[in-house]
Amino acid sequence: MSENISVLGLGLMGTALAASLIEAGHHVTVWNRTPAKADPLVARGATLAATPAQAVEASSLVIVCLLDYPSVFEVLQDAPLAGRVVANLTTGRPAEAPEMAAWVGERGGEYLDGGIMAVPQMIAQPGALILYSGSRPAFERYEQAFGAMAAARYTGEDTGTASLLDLAMLTGMYGQMAGALEALALVRSAKYPLMEFTTELLIPWINAMSAQLPRWVADIEAGDYRTEVSNLEINRSGMENLVRAFEEQGVKPDLLLPMKTVIDRRVARGLAHEGLSGLVEEL
Ligand SMILES: NC(=O)c1ccc[n+]([C@@H]2O[C@H](COP(=O)([O-])OP(=O)(O)OC[C@H]3O[C@@H](n4cnc5c(N)ncnc54)[C@H](OP(=O)(O)O)[C@@H]3O)[C@@H](O)[C@H]2O)c1
Repeated sequence: MSENISVLGLGLMGTALAASLIEAGHHVTVWNRTPAKADPLVARGATLAATPAQAVEASSLVIVCLLDYPSVFEVLQDAPLAGRVVANLTTGRPAEAPEMAAWVGERGGEYLDGGIMAVPQMIAQPGALILYSGSRPAFERYEQAFGAMAAARYTGEDTGTASLLDLAMLTGMYGQMAGALEALALVRSAKYPLMEFTTELLIPWINAMSAQLPRWVADIEAGDYRTEVSNLEINRSGMENLVRAFEEQGVKPDLLLPMKTVIDRRVARGLAHEGLSGLVEEL
């Protein structure tokens, strides 16, 4: 079904979102603080609104993708939100979402908060995901339109949930990248071919280790961290060995050291018999 949809914010991400909606056959109205950025979208059939209020007026679904939440408040200040669904896909923090939802609600609008798990080039491609939380009826009404931008996943009525899960996924990504960068620095110190190490050894190893995560989740949910396999004493001594090897290779283990600190702390509490999953209690 073709919808009237307005997109406010035509940075790299907003432009990709608007383009995917035009491509899917929706009537798209756009607004951006710097209007020239709308030119390529107008050439593809979008309507340029002169003000945020005009953009909001034009559509029942308003997608907002700006720099941060303060800019969203600023831009929507004078917009007629009554009867509109506002889907705010600007990256924020879980605590900011309920405040924004209440502000939109006071003006008669319905609110969805979103977390974009993609870079602009991935929009409308397989693998792109957008998490939504907030008004379930609003999500269900526009689920199909959302699907033109990326796979759309509703995560619950609590408006902060999409942001929390977004940040949690980014956290997992940064942790994985930190380990990979340390590994590459270590391998480079021995002048071993980096690409071969990465594609043939590191990636399959990381994937195999990731497959163990559901077992850790079961430990965390049960609050029982005893293990028969790789306890914290083994990991403490393994980390010590690692850090020494890094020093001997002339590589700084800076991205690894925080994990060593937490393992040492847990062991010092007399919990050396537990597995790594117990570290969650230290955080
Ligand atoms: N790019 C990514 O890979 C990616 C991935 C996931 C999520 N996101 C999120 O998507 C959002 C937009 O990112 P982006 O990559 O599109 O950033 P961007 O290219 O830097 O665009 C920022 C947008 O915000 C507008 N803006 C900034 N301050 C404003 C203000 N005070 N008033 C009105 N408009 C203002 C800019 O307008 P002007 O054009 O006039 O400067 C522009 O439209 C961010 O929250 C980002 O975290 C981005």
